Amino acid sequence: MALISWVLLLFLAVLSALATSGAQDDGNPVLRCHLDQAATLLQLKKSFSFFRYPIALVSWQDGTDYCLWEGVICSNSPGHVTALELGGRALYSLGLDPAIFNLTLLQRLDLSMNYFGQYSLPANGFERLSLLTHLNLSKSGFQGQIPIGIGKLANLISLDLSVLGYSALEDSLDGYDNSSPDVTSWLWLQEPNLENLVGNLTNLKELYLDGVDMSSSANDWCDALAKFLPNLRILSLSYCNLVGPICPSLSALHSLTVINLHDNFDTSATPHQALFMDFLHSSVLQLAWSNLQAWFPCRIFRLNTLRGLDLSGT
Ligand SMILES: *[C@@H]1O[C@H](CO)[C@@H](O)[C@H](O)[C@H]1NC(C)=O
Ligand SMILES: *[C@@H]1O[C@H](CO)[C@@H](O)[C@H](O)[C@H]1NC(C)=O
Ligand SMILES: *[C@@H]1O[C@H](CO)[C@@H](O)[C@H](O)[C@H]1NC(C)=O
Repeated sequence: MALISWVLLLFLAVLSALATSGAQDDGNPVLRCHLDQAATLLQLKKSFSFFRYPIALVSWQDGTDYCLWEGVICSNSPGHVTALELGGRALYSLGLDPAIFNLTLLQRLDLSMNYFGQYSLPANGFERLSLLTHLNLSKSGFQGQIPIGIGKLANLISLDLSVLGYSALEDSLDGYDNSSPDVTSWLWLQEPNLENLVGNLTNLKELYLDGVDMSSSANDWCDALAKFLPNLRILSLSYCNLVGPICPSLSALHSLTVINLHDNFDTSATPHQALFMDFLHSSVLQLAWSNLQAWFPCRIFRLNTLRGLDLSGT
């Protein structure tokens, strides 16, 4: 009898200790941070429909450890969400819920290959994700102006906002039931234009903006890239309605190994441009169907690093 009541007492003591420690932890910044991030993720989940892929994000359940949820990656420091890898989950949402901008410790964000209902990207909020190094919003059915907040993410190494990939043109449109593949009606860069967008992205190594309308960047696009992106390795700007010519200064980017400018340039806007493509390090050069009435220096054909060259239709 004494033993039983002793066990009972101990049980009650442990219970009350647990209860009070819970109450104390409410004021604990670490726990508060955990609660906020869990709430933010659940808010984000609430913004999605799952009719195309009902089992997406089933692990995202209140009261469970969000660091174990599908697509959520935490760092070693207590429960900080540093990456959201949600590409290709057939998530459907009418726009991007601004709750995502509360995940201010994110270094990687991938929402590619989902569908955001042809809504615009939120005009404000991206600048809060200042630790981002990788941002991939490609083929996600966003429409409209690319917000300047993305241009403030000075740590970005890789930026992929491509609406269409060169070979994925049909695939991606099939997914959207879009009967008229009007590339230019998706994302665009006007204000900010390309120059404003990349002005502070000096760490960028990969830039994919295929299908983003840049017709208003006129002749500035090329000099802007050469001036602000000294570390650029991959440049993919197919189907961008670029009007200005390829500039000689681009050849100063010595890390540039892949250049894809497929399907650009209005013939009338680039009259007999002499191209100075001293891209000694280039391994892939795609300029096909660029309407370039240009002089191609023999140098291109002496590049022993070149693995792919497509000049058809130029
Ligand atoms: C972001 O976090 C703040 C403070 O924690 C909170 O007040 C706000 O409601 C959150 N915003 C969203 C969109 O969840
Ligand atoms: C972005 O995501 C798409 C689709 O998931 C993928 O094909 C592409 O390689 C990614 N971009 C980068 C720069 O990793
Ligand atoms: C780039 O950074 C400078 C200095 O921090 C700032 O004044 C400028 O507004 C930034 N530009 C963009 C496009 O964010």
